[in-house]
Amino acid sequence: MKSLSTLAVLFGFALLGESLTYAAPPIVIKFSHVVDENTPKGLAALEFKRLAEERTRGRVKVQVYPNSSLYKDREELEALQLGAVQMLAPSLAKFGQLGMRDFEVFDLPYIFPNKQVLKTVTQGEIGRQLLAQLEDRGILGLAYWDNGFKVMSANTPIRLPEDLKGKRMRIQPSRVLESQMEALGATPIPLAFSDVHTALETGLVDGTENPPSNLYSKKMHEVQKYVAVTNHGYLGYAVIVNRKFWNSLPADIRTTLERCILDATRKNDDEAEKLNSQALAKVKKSETTTVVTLNSAELAAWRKALEPVHRKMESRISKDLITSIREAASAQAAIDATPR
Ligand code: LMR
Repeated sequence: MKSLSTLAVLFGFALLGESLTYAAPPIVIKFSHVVDENTPKGLAALEFKRLAEERTRGRVKVQVYPNSSLYKDREELEALQLGAVQMLAPSLAKFGQLGMRDFEVFDLPYIFPNKQVLKTVTQGEIGRQLLAQLEDRGILGLAYWDNGFKVMSANTPIRLPEDLKGKRMRIQPSRVLESQMEALGATPIPLAFSDVHTALETGLVDGTENPPSNLYSKKMHEVQKYVAVTNHGYLGYAVIVNRKFWNSLPADIRTTLERCILDATRKNDDEAEKLNSQALAKVKKSETTTVVTLNSAELAAWRKALEPVHRKMESRISKDLITSIREAASAQAAIDATPR
């Protein structure tokens, strides 16, 4: 029979042992992004934080820095490659500046007829192959997050493509978006997202393009009198991590975080549709902005005006990639046309 004092000592060691397993400092993931928290990406980042901290029982701490509060657009990509931050979700339009030209396929006007085709691409082999291209830049792509289709905005009436002729239009740093604005006779002005509101307010630029959730959450409707619901281009994100950091994680933590990313992706994509239609409705209700919806003839005029961009960009984006997306679109169209 062990004496009470021996049992007390053993209990003390057991407690010490127990406390020691949690004495290790938490693994910190800094997640930097450039949009407001009340956007699909902002909410998904917070969901990832909640799930990661809960499911690793505090072994991982996620610090989310929204609204460019830690890094602005270009800086955040450099910070990730240097390991100063561990996770980002930049717009797919921002990888061209790293030399990853194929990512700009997502910027081609009207290349995705609907969300189903987009999902076929991002959730299939095409999307996987694109993310694999990031690896020799020290980046690992974990998922795609959706933020829907973009509308055009300006301070003069917009209904038809010619209405943007001569306008200075803010774009993300993408050669496809440059070509898109030039096809409309506008001047493309690449700017960091955090600088857009001021640029519109001061008249540095006349207009821009955004999914409604970004336009509204950054109060751009307060400095844009007109919005045309062109849905001319897509805006989505690649969720990326510093590859060295990710591969250094304990295997069990990595597996848990992969599941958290899956669930945060579901949250993002569930929210995207809803937040964008709510944002457009709020802009419509605002006294500041006239929202113009377009009929089929007007939409056809936008498609026609932007068609040359595809041909011009064939030297920049792999032809096979463009063809495979078009094939996915026609396969989806055939499914949609099959009587149920
Ligand atoms: C933009 O720069 O317009 C967008 O990429 C911002 C974002 O991350 O949605």
